[in-house]
Amino acid sequence: MFYSEEIIEEVRQRNPIVDVIGSYVHLTKKGGNYFGLCPFHNEKSPSFSVSASKQMYHCFGCGKGGNVLTFVMEYENYSFPEAMEMLAKRAGIELPQQEYTPQMKEEADQRTLLLKMHKDAAIFYVSMLRSPQGKPGLDYLKKRELTDETIRNFGLGYAGPHPAALYRYLKSKGYTDAQMKDSGLITIRERGAGDRFWNRVMYPIMDANNRVIAFGGRVMGDGEPKYLNSPETKIFDKSRNLYGLNVARRTKEKYFLVCEGYMDVISMHQAGFTNAVASLGTAFTHQHGMIIKRYTDEVILCYDMDGAGRKAVLRAIPILKEAGLRIKVLSMAPYKDPDEFMKNLGPEEFKVRISQAVNAFIFEVDTLRTQYDFSDPEEKANFFNETAKKLAEFSDEIERSSYTEAVAKKFGIDYGILRSKVNQIGNQVGLTRKDEDEWKPKSTVQTKKTKDHGIREAQKLILTELSQEPGVYAGVRRYLAADDFTDDLMRAVANELFAQLEQGADKLNPASIVNHFIDSDLYSEVAAMFSSAFTEDLSEDEKRQALREAVGRVRENSLEKKIADCTDPMQLMELLKKKNELKAGRIEL
Ligand code: GTP
Ligand code: MN
Repeated sequence: MFYSEEIIEEVRQRNPIVDVIGSYVHLTKKGGNYFGLCPFHNEKSPSFSVSASKQMYHCFGCGKGGNVLTFVMEYENYSFPEAMEMLAKRAGIELPQQEYTPQMKEEADQRTLLLKMHKDAAIFYVSMLRSPQGKPGLDYLKKRELTDETIRNFGLGYAGPHPAALYRYLKSKGYTDAQMKDSGLITIRERGAGDRFWNRVMYPIMDANNRVIAFGGRVMGDGEPKYLNSPETKIFDKSRNLYGLNVARRTKEKYFLVCEGYMDVISMHQAGFTNAVASLGTAFTHQHGMIIKRYTDEVILCYDMDGAGRKAVLRAIPILKEAGLRIKVLSMAPYKDPDEFMKNLGPEEFKVRISQAVNAFIFEVDTLRTQYDFSDPEEKANFFNETAKKLAEFSDEIERSSYTEAVAKKFGIDYGILRSKVNQIGNQVGLTRKDEDEWKPKSTVQTKKTKDHGIREAQKLILTELSQEPGVYAGVRRYLAADDFTDDLMRAVANELFAQLEQGADKLNPASIVNHFIDSDLYSEVAAMFSSAFTEDLSEDEKRQALREAVGRVRENSLEKKIADCTDPMQLMELLKKKNELKAGRIEL
């Protein structure tokens, strides 16, 4: 982020959030807040709230939230600098010229130029498609049942038979040979310059902000290679871009559909599934996973139904899992890919398939199953051993036991036997703990989870109350410091909030804290911390009581953690004493 903290704050403060959001969403005042229908997910009754006092928004339905800057970024698909520019203009603020080193300036200029050249090239290819020479291209796209609207939405174009048509066009626009070479769209050789793409239908590849950064070109028929893509350039990194993301990022669905090809994405979008994306003819990378994770928590893989597709699924699963995504796999049988499926069975049937998509782990085990012949007892035993090994890899015990249960059910094996097998393997590799207690009945496990959840909610409640009633800080600080907040992100936020409140109630400014999390895409989570729904309908007394309880719980939890980690006997005694005092005493706020 290259704007100073001060200018970011000025832009934010001079754009009152209720005014800005009110120009996009119909807001109604209810108590101290404004409510409306959430623009980020589909809903019938308003759960999208905007707080004038906190200068933040938060949707109780989908969890999206932030300050005025993040709202404009999300709604308009703007990058942070673009949102700054728009809001600065709206408030009549002149943004300072950015201080660049000469090197940075050259980089930035080069990127800007390449982006502009790609935009020009995209316009050129579209006009070719619409010209008489473009007939073969347009015929091809029509034959593939694309509507005019789809062709327009995806900016599809055509590179004709002339080997240097784009070159001549770009030259006429004033680009130099060297600049064109850097774009990857033109090859410069001794004999002269030529286009990379010809006789192909052209698919512009856009980044998340709708800027053309590369092209894919498909032969119209059976030539080789079927697809030719732009090489990597200063503006195009295959491992960080997903086809269709510029549209899919606005989806109101809770998941992304990940497919293999351009054409799959296009026909999915045409059929109404605008949450479909594809990697650009490369294997899925860790970066792809992280990018998807910014927008959603779940992906449904819709890869081709052939051997290669199945392999690609198996490769993508661990990568997506590592990014923290839930993964399902969809079957298009008996059709090959989403494009074919859509043409034959249509969107309604595809929705059924979405609801039937299987969990990635089950898909992996199913695939494993096909490699063993169950009529041979030895092979059958081998299959169960392999499966148990995979199950033992789950480090989370809830996950491990529920998957063990699911697999046992699915393949008709005794749960107890499979469980002890998994446990045995787990012990060998040291993944699970030695004691059998690990396999407590689910209810205790559940209790731990519920307790963690309760602590998180208590922490949220405290942050929310502090942001609404800074007066209670004087009391809260006697019991809690920012490091008593357990989760890393909450602790970071508590740190900033406590620092503001230390300087006085008039320094309270929760929306400014959101500024620090814009780059990391964590702002929704941060905004949610200031929007606990717990105390919504409580009286003042009840609120105070809820806050007391929350403070007590968070302090107790923090002391317990410190006690568990403490190795120094003196310190331990001190901590235990504090814990006893907490138990005996009453929290006074
Ligand atoms: P259609 O055959 O037009 O339906 O395209 P498709 O998108 O279904 O293609 P396919 O399933 O054959 O391949 C999936 C993706 O892999 C494509 O969208 C391309 O991104 C990529 N791909 C396929 N063939 C080639 C190729 O020859 N070269 C390169 N670089 N990528 C390819
Ligand atoms: Mn395909």
